Amino acid sequence: MFQIKDVYSPSDVHESVVIGLFDKPTTFHGQLKMLDEAFDGGLTELVKEGEISAKLKKISKLHTLGKMAAKKIWFVGLGKENEWTFDKLREVFGKVFKTIHAERQEETAVLLTSFLTDRLDATDAAHALSEALLLATYRFEGYRQKANVPEKNIENITVYCDVVDKGELHASLSVGYAFGKGANSARTLVNTPGNLLTATDMANYAKELADRYDFEVEILEKQEIEKLGMGAFLAVNQGSAEPPKMIVLKYQGKEQWEDVIGLVGKGITFDTGGYSLKTKDGIVGMKTDMGGAAAVLGAMEIIGELRPQQNVVAVIPSTDNMISGSAFKPDDVITSMSGKTIEVLNTDAEGRLVLADAVTYAKHHGASYLVDVATLTGGVIVALGLNTTGAMTNNERLFEQVLEASFEAGEPVWQLPLFEKEKERVRNSKIADLNNSPGREGHAIVAGAFIGEFAEDTPWVHLDIAGTATTAKDSDLGPSGATGVMTRTLALFVERFEPFGK
Ligand code: BES
Ligand code: MN
Ligand code: ZN
Repeated sequence: MFQIKDVYSPSDVHESVVIGLFDKPTTFHGQLKMLDEAFDGGLTELVKEGEISAKLKKISKLHTLGKMAAKKIWFVGLGKENEWTFDKLREVFGKVFKTIHAERQEETAVLLTSFLTDRLDATDAAHALSEALLLATYRFEGYRQKANVPEKNIENITVYCDVVDKGELHASLSVGYAFGKGANSARTLVNTPGNLLTATDMANYAKELADRYDFEVEILEKQEIEKLGMGAFLAVNQGSAEPPKMIVLKYQGKEQWEDVIGLVGKGITFDTGGYSLKTKDGIVGMKTDMGGAAAVLGAMEIIGELRPQQNVVAVIPSTDNMISGSAFKPDDVITSMSGKTIEVLNTDAEGRLVLADAVTYAKHHGASYLVDVATLTGGVIVALGLNTTGAMTNNERLFEQVLEASFEAGEPVWQLPLFEKEKERVRNSKIADLNNSPGREGHAIVAGAFIGEFAEDTPWVHLDIAGTATTAKDSDLGPSGATGVMTRTLALFVERFEPFGK
């Protein structure tokens, strides 16, 4: 996939060459000067005339017409050098590779040094490059009998860079590649319809991951789930023809099973709402209600590739939320694995129910830190829109670490408050310890608060991705549909994690 070479020469043979241009490139130096000379000063002229622009994300294609061995040059505007960031770099690479992919080229070269500044080094840039390549050129095949266009992928990229050690650069390219690949796997899971990705399918997928990366795997079947008393999880599955699966993957990167990070992902393969039925418009798209599970599985794939010195237990409660004569109903009272009883006021508030037992089970497996990820509420969309993941926590130190990872991954996260008054609303029931739906005011917050009741005093962060797991718009880093959001954040968080006392 990647070759690394020191210095580019116009006689090097490539389909195309990608070069970054900072504003204002009035005089060329280094490799650019060499190119300008190959064109007898023609590049300087084209920049002056505005044919080649350094405006951020502006892409200019130049046919070389035999002046150099490469057939084309892709000039990419990078904007002002002092405003250059890692996020911009990732997006710029995304846009370039998308363009090259659309032209169905299979090979290109990148002059990496043209994208660097004092504040952005080559290893970071290499990570951005490979991650962006995978994210930007991702496609979900779908199920048409005849594909629209025969697929051609970028198979070979030569990276020119003479400022860092080749081994280091190669390592960064591989890391970025693993991150992009993990996020794309998550996207594919989310894009897959509910009839083709049942809880059983998801469990089988997890088993394959476990085989590939040597994780310990445990799939709890319905009988075992019953034996463990996971009444909240079972209630959601009660109306389904599909058996539930509690999926557990363990990765041990330390000598001892200590400082264990629990990653818990909502795995509702389809959410009808149950007897608190969704509307005919609201129900469409609910195949994506396992976006949290997908992020956790995607992160586990990255972890399996990179093998950090951390301990991780991933727990995914998976079922659909259906209606039938046996389904659970509003007013039912159920008993969770923790022993806490729950008055069901709304069967569409099912995510927090399955997560309640999953969080408890993660603790049983030794999780001493918890991060749950879930397409939990429409409320988070009202509060934060479609580009920001909502977060809640009982521990600011843990939240800081998740937030730091989300910055680096370029996946915006914003914290919502968790005050005592809202916790009280969750505890307000005449006949049970908790209720699952205290009303629409701030309902993203009470949903998180409900899960917090089961985290108890274990440091915990909750991530509500209802708004961010999918997108209606194409972007520089991927097509419309599933985003794979939080996959990369979780993996980075795990990689960098520093345990702390409570
Ligand atoms: N899966 C939904 C949340 C959701 C909404 C995800 C839109 C993606 C897009 C969740 O199970 C749900 O139904 N939440 C309800 C909770 C309410 C009944 C308290 C909601 O947000 O309306
Ligand atoms: Mn629901
Ligand atoms: Zn749901």
